[in-house]
This record gives sequence, structure tokens and C-alpha cells, in this order.
Amino acid sequence: MLKDTLKDVYQQTLALKCAGKVATYIPELAKVDPEQFGLALLSEDDECFSEGDADVAFSIQSMSKVLTLAMALEVAPDELFKRVGVEPSGNPFNSLVQLENENGIPRNPLINAGALVVADILLSHFENPKDALLQTVSRLGQVSARFDTRVALSEYKTSARNRALANFMKSFGNIKNDIDVLLDFYCHQCALAMSCIESVKVFSFLSRDQKQNSSLSETQKRRINALMLTCGFYDESGDFAFSVGLPGKSGVGGGIVALCPSRFTIAAWSPRLGPKGNSLRATHALKLFANQTNSSIF
Ligand code: DON
Repeated sequence: MLKDTLKDVYQQTLALKCAGKVATYIPELAKVDPEQFGLALLSEDDECFSEGDADVAFSIQSMSKVLTLAMALEVAPDELFKRVGVEPSGNPFNSLVQLENENGIPRNPLINAGALVVADILLSHFENPKDALLQTVSRLGQVSARFDTRVALSEYKTSARNRALANFMKSFGNIKNDIDVLLDFYCHQCALAMSCIESVKVFSFLSRDQKQNSSLSETQKRRINALMLTCGFYDESGDFAFSVGLPGKSGVGGGIVALCPSRFTIAAWSPRLGPKGNSLRATHALKLFANQTNSSIF
């Protein structure tokens, strides 16, 4: 049933003429073929189904914010929520506007400012945070995690806005490490390269009741799901909750991962983005899939 619906949704979505543009503010991402489209699903009983370009690796970008959040929850749960909030921002992912009024404490860990604080926590905690991240991702998904270093360098060279966010938060004492080191780590986490098939394996720890390879408690996983539902799509989070009804996270590489707790993990990827930085075709596919399988959590 899930397999047949995935195929059906793939075909329906492929037939759509899709507007939208690939992200160009990270020059390497502008080189990606915009017509690619993949879907993958991992069910709770470990069956994996896929369609289209599901085994092509893409840049997971902000989807990585969920993984670093999970790591920070493992190693520094008390510190984390003193330095970053849990409220939706209602603003674009790279917005600076709320930080001044809110004393350098980002609204949530899934906007850029919040993910930079999370990255800063990991830098303080791990001697080699890039290796720690690769090891965590490999362990979670039983995959061979890797960075696309060309994407990381391309973003690092054009990271004026993230540098501004980091410096501004440093002025409030909410960034402890050197800004260059912080941005280098953050650009690498965003440059994790993964296919849809790998993504469903890696993120499935959040949809399962008893997953061996994560040490997060059920409560911690529930909280990550809550943040994905309320903040995972920035100023489009309400729309995704309204029309899909699943916790999810997007990235400007065109990927989206979403979870139906205790049922399945699904990933969709297609590079053309809408105005809020979320993939148009991937969003459309997830809307269709959630509706056809009646899997909204509401
Ligand atoms: O920091 C950035 O701007 C990018 N590395 C990530 C942004 C992103 O993926 C937003 N998501 N849709």
C-alpha cells in the first residue's frame, strides 16, 4: 500500500510543470540539475521503497540542523535551551530581525541563528566536531556519511549573512568560539551529502519507538518532532502543518524529510525552490502522499 502510493505520487508529481528556482546564493548549489526528483520511504518494519532519483546524493543543507540538534541534546541538554528558544520565528531562515530585541537568543534551533548556537555548543564539546558529526550520522543511519567539501567551501566564501548572525550573537555572549571556526563547521554540516534513501535511514531514529542507535530519550525525540512541526519550514511551517500534517525539515538543496511517528520516514528531493526556500515539488509530493495515506498526525 505505501509502496503503491509512493509510485502513484511520484508519477503525479513528475507530471506537474514546476516553477521555482534552485538556490543560487551558494554558488555550488546553482550547478545542480533542477529537474531531478526522488522519493524514498522507510517503513517501521524496515522496508525501503523508492522512486526516481532517490539514490542521487544531494546537499542536505538545513535538514542537518535536526541532526546537530539531536547531538546537542545528547551532550548538553541543559545548556541548549538556555541559549536557544523553542518558538516559531515566522521569519525567513536567515533573518536577523528578532535577535536584537531578544538579546541574541534565537527563537529556535532550526533557523540559521539557532543552528549556529547549536554548532557552537558542539564546537565547545567535541575536540573534532566534524568527525563527531560524521560518526553520529553514520551510526544513526548505518550509512557512510560524507561532506561535499566543494559545497562547504562555496558556502563559506559567501557566508556574509551567517557571519553577521554569528557576530551579532557573539556581542550578546551567545557564541563562545571563534567565528571562522564556527562558520567552517556550520558550512560542513550543511554540506552533508545524502540521497533520499540514505536520508530516510538516518532520520528514522526520530520516528521509531525503540531505535537502538540513538541514545535520546522518547521525550527528547518527541521534542525534536515538535520543533520540526512548528519551525521546520520557517515562515512556511504553518502551511506544511496545515496541508501535510507531519513533522518535517527542509533544506535549500531541495530536500525535505518528514516523519509519521511509529509508521514511516519519508524523504523527497527536487532542487527548484519556492519563495520561502522550500522545494516546491518535494512539498507537493508530501502533500499528496500524506493525504492519500491519511497519515497526518492530526
Ligand atoms: O545557512 C544557509 O543559508 C544554508 N546553509 C542553509 C539554509 C537552508 O537550507 C534553509 N532551508 N530551507
